[in-house]
Amino acid sequence: MSDAAANPLKAGLEDVVVSTSDICFIDGHKGRLLYRGFDVDDLVAQSTFEEVTYLLWYGKLPSRKELDAHVKALSSTANRKLPPKLITMLRQLPKKTTPMEVLRTGVSALSAFDPDAADNSREATLRKSIRLTAQMPTLVAAWERIRRGKPVVAPNPKLSLSGNFLYMMTGKKPTELATKTFDVALILHADHEFNASTFAARVTAATLSDVHSGVVSGIGALKGPLHGGANEQVMLMVQKIKDPAKADAWIRQALADKARIMGFGHRVYRVEDPRAKHLKRLALELGQQAGSTVNIQILDIMAGVVSAAKHIFPNVDLYSGAAYASMGISTDQFTPIFAMSRVAGWAAHILEQHGNNRLIRPRSDYTGATDAKYVPLAER
Ligand code: ACO
Repeated sequence: MSDAAANPLKAGLEDVVVSTSDICFIDGHKGRLLYRGFDVDDLVAQSTFEEVTYLLWYGKLPSRKELDAHVKALSSTANRKLPPKLITMLRQLPKKTTPMEVLRTGVSALSAFDPDAADNSREATLRKSIRLTAQMPTLVAAWERIRRGKPVVAPNPKLSLSGNFLYMMTGKKPTELATKTFDVALILHADHEFNASTFAARVTAATLSDVHSGVVSGIGALKGPLHGGANEQVMLMVQKIKDPAKADAWIRQALADKARIMGFGHRVYRVEDPRAKHLKRLALELGQQAGSTVNIQILDIMAGVVSAAKHIFPNVDLYSGAAYASMGISTDQFTPIFAMSRVAGWAAHILEQHGNNRLIRPRSDYTGATDAKYVPLAER
């Protein structure tokens, strides 16, 4: 209808290439995921979330000296702590506010306290990215404590980002297995090319808006159940099924009812998401340590049935929740945890967008009326 109608319509922008990028590569047919050329399987085995943030933002692995300085910046109390006024603000929120709403609100409010708020240079955006990555775990943990009527736990600069987050959530030093598992989960969620939330962050950045605004856009997009919100929905489904003996019949009925099964399917992968196997392994180890593998048994039965019946495979959201649940983390915190990691990718993409910017502004194929006659209100 419009002058854009001559262009082929691609619903959901499927397979549309909108920009070049050096950050992340997905091979959807082979099930490979690379950050800056490095296979995530290698990063999971050998790296840390802190090092991965460096890799994503600076485009190379750090030297020992560079890594030490980067880790120091990410773990310093100055960068991790929340402004006291923000904690006061959190206390004013209704206790039923969901953690994802709190995170979206809190990140937006953090820009009001950021000394670089008005500076969009690459250097300032990097400083803000470090602060946001350091502050978001504190924000997520602070809300968990506040809503449960417990005292907020101050960050411990001696702990890694993962260890410190688990410590601030519970007030207790986490086990090595829990810290390692959590760190691997953060590495695996750190970036994923032009997914919905990253694209949202880039669209915002492309208006030359700032990193806080881009991250808030990302959080808003991640919240939905078709994207990051799926991990929470998976666990709610597992809680409904409860018993592995009932899983097969339950999932077959859901498929017969044409239900959308959360944790399965992907726009890009035509095989199993390469992140799922790591999360499954770690969720199983944690479950064994905690004395129950029921959740994993249910998920495995679901995976067998859905893959065979629909040729739709597990994605990153299928097993992550089971790992977090074994650490005693509430289901509605799963998506905020995803955001705590993906902020690294959002920041990398905002930096890249700013470095070679063009406003992102697609067209629609207009299908509405063209000759509507305005009737005055009194005559309608
Ligand atoms: N359960 C049941 N059917 C599915 C699923 C699923 N999880 N995923 C896709 N399908 C089916 C659709 O019904 C559709 O079938 P049809 O052609 O017979 O109508 C076909 O597969 C294609 O589905 P689309 O929704 O068009 O695929 P799209 O690429 O748009 O969606 C998405 C991808 C949103 C991830 C989808 O697979 C889904 O809804 N999955 C469940 C939610 C989920 O787990 N999201 C997390 C994804 S990973 C991430 O964002 C971190």
